[in-house]
Amino acid sequence: MCGIVAYVGPKDAAPILLEGMQRLEYRGYDSAGIVVSNKGLKVRKCKGRVADLAKVVPARFKGGLGIGHTRWATHGVPSDENAHPHLSADQRIAVVHNGIIENAGELRAKLIADGVEFASETDTEVLAHMIAHAADENDTLEEAVRKTLKSVVGTYGIAVIDAERPGEVVVARNGSPIVLGIGEKEMFAASDVAALVRYTRQVVHLEDGELAVLKADGFHTFASDARETAKEPLTVDWDAGHYDTGGYEHYLLKEISEQPETITRTMSGRLDERFHVAHLGGLNMDARETRGFRRVKIIGCGSAYYSGQIGAQLIEELARIPSDAEPASEFRYRNPVVDPDTLYVAISQSGETYDTLAAVQELKRKGGRVIGIVNAVGSAIAREVDGGIYLHAGPEVSVASTKAFSSTAVAFALLALHLGRVRDLSPADGRRIVEGLRRLPGQIEEILTQSDKIAELAQKYATHASMMFVGRVRGYPVAREGAQKLKEISYVHAEAYPASELKHGPLALIGPDMPTVAIVPDDELLDKNLTTLGEIRARGGRVLMVGHREPEAKLADDVIVIPKNEIELDPILLTIPLQLLAYHAAVALDRDVDKPRNLAKSVTVE
Ligand code: F6R
Repeated sequence: MCGIVAYVGPKDAAPILLEGMQRLEYRGYDSAGIVVSNKGLKVRKCKGRVADLAKVVPARFKGGLGIGHTRWATHGVPSDENAHPHLSADQRIAVVHNGIIENAGELRAKLIADGVEFASETDTEVLAHMIAHAADENDTLEEAVRKTLKSVVGTYGIAVIDAERPGEVVVARNGSPIVLGIGEKEMFAASDVAALVRYTRQVVHLEDGELAVLKADGFHTFASDARETAKEPLTVDWDAGHYDTGGYEHYLLKEISEQPETITRTMSGRLDERFHVAHLGGLNMDARETRGFRRVKIIGCGSAYYSGQIGAQLIEELARIPSDAEPASEFRYRNPVVDPDTLYVAISQSGETYDTLAAVQELKRKGGRVIGIVNAVGSAIAREVDGGIYLHAGPEVSVASTKAFSSTAVAFALLALHLGRVRDLSPADGRRIVEGLRRLPGQIEEILTQSDKIAELAQKYATHASMMFVGRVRGYPVAREGAQKLKEISYVHAEAYPASELKHGPLALIGPDMPTVAIVPDDELLDKNLTTLGEIRARGGRVLMVGHREPEAKLADDVIVIPKNEIELDPILLTIPLQLLAYHAAVALDRDVDKPRNLAKSVTVE
């Protein structure tokens, strides 16, 4: 969740660290700090944003070795003291850390018994003191770090520097990402490639349990038992431009607006007009294997899970394979039965979500066949799975997921087509879906032109403290995602229910103060949905309907009409106006749209 940046080379580290940290701010942002080495360690840290830190970093803050951190508080409130880096009592060792040290309490008690005085409430500070002790007893910093980590239980991505070894940074990973960036006579490390792409596109991802030593002229990696490991650098295809707002007021609006191109990239080279199939070479599965699955189980967290619900519906409809989605965070803790005839699909934009990664590892340990639908190339989940589909949606910076959501839904349509066409989906239906997919980008463009109208509706509805979202079958995951978007960025309370369940409880809430956003596609359930609207209006509830045509009777106060596609693909389009509704509500309420309170972009802790 937090961000780490490290630099060693001929330039001054501070501006590089600050710039990198700014790029990572979307991951964690309640405090920030940097340390550089120049005849001793020089530290500046404070509660607040990277911009606040930049103001307290003096112009003459020289030194070609440094580490920086943006924090999202777990142990201890956001404060100057709890901000990273943390230093050993003798000011020799500085550490920045992402993750959670689970046995920090015990380690801290031991250190206190040995007379160590703590300067913060964080779990990280124990690492600084322990590494300093180990550094006195070991010849190298890498050895001191490696030995210290042997007594640590928990997750970490760390970067460590030693005032007595001003030419090197040691980094280590266990459950929290660390990427090395290879430059010309300089080396970088970060928790996310976003911090590196301005300087280099040659990167190396560390595996869990791996450590690395970085010097200006290169790096070496090794495992927790000190064995050297061999790493092949990867070239990232994202550059710094992908991380700019591109003239938009917020990353979120940019990412919503990019969706015609991003879903086009997800489909690119994968649709076959001759056989009406999808080519998904990354699955690493032949036709016989593909035919063999009897169930599909989809796991992911938050919006990724909701996109998985859309995916399950698509696979059941097109491939007629029983499918369902479950939050990865629940799945991993309920000792799931892992079945050899089930295809497991893990979804993650970041590819680093800890719960999803842990669920994948549990599945693999039990012999399950797992594929990934992932955006971040080379991320932990992408490396862990047996094959998969990359989204190619480009970096998603805003905390709330939008373009990754639509690209995931499109990837599921491709997977459903692929699974369907090796089974009983007819060529005619295959063609219908391929043509429908091709129409999606243009139809999203059309929906985006309604942004001003949706902004007016958002102003009107966002004055309520609470909103209900309802949808049936294909519309239900859409309603869930709509409610999620609204609550997370505008802080308006929103609940999603299957429309069919309303009268089994939540109808009691409906009245003039609780408007409903109703997902009403023109499908076989249209009449049922219209009946629900009648029930809501009979209780004095206001209705904002999202669908394909105005209802004949006056059943809705406002209607957002969107273009019609094939019924199986409609959910992809129905989510777009809800993204705009949430965005404009957040703007109307003057929220921090891209960085909603209490949230971080990728949740790399439990
Ligand atoms: C909501 C949102 C989150 C993520 C979830 C999983 O807008 O962004 O719910 O979908 O944290 O993240 P990834 O997809 O990176 O695994």
